[in-house]
Amino acid sequence: MIDGSQAHKTLFCQTFIDTHRPFEPAELPWPQLDERSIDRLRSIPFWSVALAAERNAGYMVTAYAAKVDDPLIKRALALQGVEETRHANLLAEMLERYHIDVADKTVSRSPATKRNFIDFGYEECIDSFFGFGIFGLAKQIQLFVPELTDIFELVLLEEARHVTFFVNWVAYERIRHGLGWRPFQGAATALGYVRAVKRIATTFAPRAEDKKRVQGVGFGAEGAFSLFEDVTWRSFLASCVRGHEHYMSAMPASLIKPTLLPNAARFALAIVPAWRKPASRATAA
Ligand SMILES: [Fe+2]
Ligand SMILES: [Fe+2]
Repeated sequence: MIDGSQAHKTLFCQTFIDTHRPFEPAELPWPQLDERSIDRLRSIPFWSVALAAERNAGYMVTAYAAKVDDPLIKRALALQGVEETRHANLLAEMLERYHIDVADKTVSRSPATKRNFIDFGYEECIDSFFGFGIFGLAKQIQLFVPELTDIFELVLLEEARHVTFFVNWVAYERIRHGLGWRPFQGAATALGYVRAVKRIATTFAPRAEDKKRVQGVGFGAEGAFSLFEDVTWRSFLASCVRGHEHYMSAMPASLIKPTLLPNAARFALAIVPAWRKPASRATAA
């Protein structure tokens, strides 16, 4: 089925369109939170970066959708733009509702080009994989009340749909342009991840030329480990893999899924002996 055919295109676009859920962030069942729960939310270090990244994503994906000729791909991309914009609105709603002030990061808008959409897609593959892991750890220690956990689940499921759409779309595009030879696909994918890692590292490096520039959420680089005590690299990677398997199991089996990071994590878990050093301390070292 992954052959650049109309059937493949219809499958990955229509799956995405059919699983879009209409809702307004303000109408979600936001729970009443006590001061302790609000302080926990306030202590999470990546809200302002996440908000800026989602705003930029909403703008860029919506603008890119407008440039695409294929009507079905255009419809799916436009819906992704709606969802990314809604992620920003959902975060803004939560921050306002619980009176959590965050620094307003300036968003330098990425031009709506195919290259930028591809770079964004690989960044989403990285951000969602590590985001699944962090959210899994948060669920384990019941960092959030169940009603709030359910709301975050909505966002993570949409991110899983986005990366599934992306990896199918990019494979479809390469095949359509005569670049579907498997070794080429593998090399192009590896290059996509390398570019994404470089962009995320540039964004969050201490000496980044423009520290306000925002590309992706970059969970790992934003000190998210500080939320957890005694987390090890093994428990974190295992949580990422579990989360990936959980969210991807909601996608049709006939679609391709991101595999590079989960396979690398499984390999690391299989060959690296367990050690007890907490990831938070390892990060600081
Ligand atoms: Fe998003
Ligand atoms: Fe997304």
